[in-house]
Amino acid sequence: MPEYIHVSVAWPYANGDMHIGHLAGAYLPADIFARYHRLKGNYVLMVSGSDSHGTPISVEADKVGISPRELFEKYHRRFLTTQRDIGISYDLFTHTDTANHHRVAQDVFTILLERGYLFKQIQQQLYSETQNRFLPDRLVEGTCYVCGFTDARGDQCDNCGTLLDATRLINPRSKIDGSTPVVRETEHYFLDLPRFAEALQDYLNRAEKAGHWRDNVLNFSRNYVANLQPRAITRDLDWGINVPLPGWESKRLYVWFEAVMGYLSASIEWAVNRGTPDAWKDWWYNPQAKMFYFIGKDNIPFHTVIWPAELLGIDGIYHDGSGSINLPYDVPANEFMNIEGRQFSKSRNWAIWLPDILERYQADAIRYYVAMTFPESRDADFSWDGFVSRVNNELVAAWGNLVNRMLGFASKRFDGAVPTPGTLTEDDQTILAQSVAALTSVGDLLGAVKLRAALQEALRVVQEANVYLDRRQPWKLIKENPQDAATVVYTILRVIDNLKIVLAPFLPFSAQQLHEMLGYSGRLFGEQRIVTYDEDGRSHEALIYDATGATGRWEPSELPPGQRLGAITPLFVKLDESLIDEERARLGKPHQV
Ligand code: MF3
Ligand code: ZN
Repeated sequence: MPEYIHVSVAWPYANGDMHIGHLAGAYLPADIFARYHRLKGNYVLMVSGSDSHGTPISVEADKVGISPRELFEKYHRRFLTTQRDIGISYDLFTHTDTANHHRVAQDVFTILLERGYLFKQIQQQLYSETQNRFLPDRLVEGTCYVCGFTDARGDQCDNCGTLLDATRLINPRSKIDGSTPVVRETEHYFLDLPRFAEALQDYLNRAEKAGHWRDNVLNFSRNYVANLQPRAITRDLDWGINVPLPGWESKRLYVWFEAVMGYLSASIEWAVNRGTPDAWKDWWYNPQAKMFYFIGKDNIPFHTVIWPAELLGIDGIYHDGSGSINLPYDVPANEFMNIEGRQFSKSRNWAIWLPDILERYQADAIRYYVAMTFPESRDADFSWDGFVSRVNNELVAAWGNLVNRMLGFASKRFDGAVPTPGTLTEDDQTILAQSVAALTSVGDLLGAVKLRAALQEALRVVQEANVYLDRRQPWKLIKENPQDAATVVYTILRVIDNLKIVLAPFLPFSAQQLHEMLGYSGRLFGEQRIVTYDEDGRSHEALIYDATGATGRWEPSELPPGQRLGAITPLFVKLDESLIDEERARLGKPHQV
């Protein structure tokens, strides 16, 4: 029976281009995982979109002198092409300014209010007297009252990870003009998180018992639930989603309250757009479905505590059938990807921008290196000499050369077709069996979201295949014993065909190229397209994955002797060492968009 796998991916703020940290933290892991499950024949629904609200958008818009909407639309459009080009195969990548998302967010607010999970309270908030407005938490800095870190942001301390109460910061200062804000009163709605404490504890207990959560994710969440406080879910702002109540026109829903609802609203949008408006429930209300959330570690409590609390509070929304709405099954948060030993910094331009490197490198080369260095259990480092050496020594020398050498050889010596083997020797059978076993070993690791280990395991089998070839030397055999050479070439082509499948989630572009070189027609995966959806008189662009015509299967090769091979072209480009210095010199320089 196919499984229902929901793949939720963190929603990037649309206030700047996508960079390698985004890719390593969430998008590439999610994509590899989704592609694996699609090849397994499971029902995958992978959604995300641009986070178009919140202070990060307003601040950047002010800085460039355009409206928040103009700003997010510009970056949203760039996100679509970037992610298509690097192959992040969302069933739907939309944004949070759609009419659909506004409706869902307001409905969630209303249901929580009706059920008594929200309360109003006059709150103290930092106010800028130089600017005559309340300061969003993110626009205040000061000393963390938990750990003493002197550059803590008002919303969260980057040193100890605590979600902060901005009014309690020691020595607060405005990030806009450095002035000292004052505390003023304002009324807001609060989500009564302590009401969910017991249910959340049960939930985390079940997760711990099931045993598949990452330790850091579980520990962080436990600590958070142990000190659960009500959280304000409205703000004094004019950019964002209206609070659906009279008298609240000057306030908006807090971005973190509504952005997480995008997982639900995007699933609904996907279902509506394909003409099956209830199809999203096959995941959200199906007790057999598994909900995975791919995020960076700075987003953990929002996905393991706050969003689950919201879900518990709205259970039954848009549904009169049986079953409860599904909570996250796993939240495999990644740590950070540093660059050349230093932390990513937008302001210091310490970043590797995806649209930029996609102009110079193959998408699969970038995917390969990033997947091999995924920060799954600790921070990792992107270094340009690491990139060049892994691409050249592993991707090109071990895998690309194996493919191009053997397919070229088969094509030239066996009339452009898969040769007919004689009896396979034990050696031939062993390597073939190893490549078939990789479907299980790599597959198990992929299913357990141990993606780096999965890629290492796939590469181990690639190396075995190279060792086998060095032993059997078909290029020598062909002179002495053409039949034996045919057997070896046939064996290795089937091994390559198996390896193509286990590598396809990581390297979808070159896997497709190889698929055609092996003489298959059709596509392993569906196709990605940028589309325009019309909605309540407005339209928005989105990236979709169209599964029509996808034929790839996570199954052993049945490559038939006699199959005509396609044109043999190099899979990968070998990189020149000189680019290491060139790329390092680019770091720290402004990125023009
Ligand atoms: N926009 C947030 C960020 O980039 C992430 C939001 S994930 C969401 O950190 F689920 F809340 F949308
Ligand atoms: Zn701190």
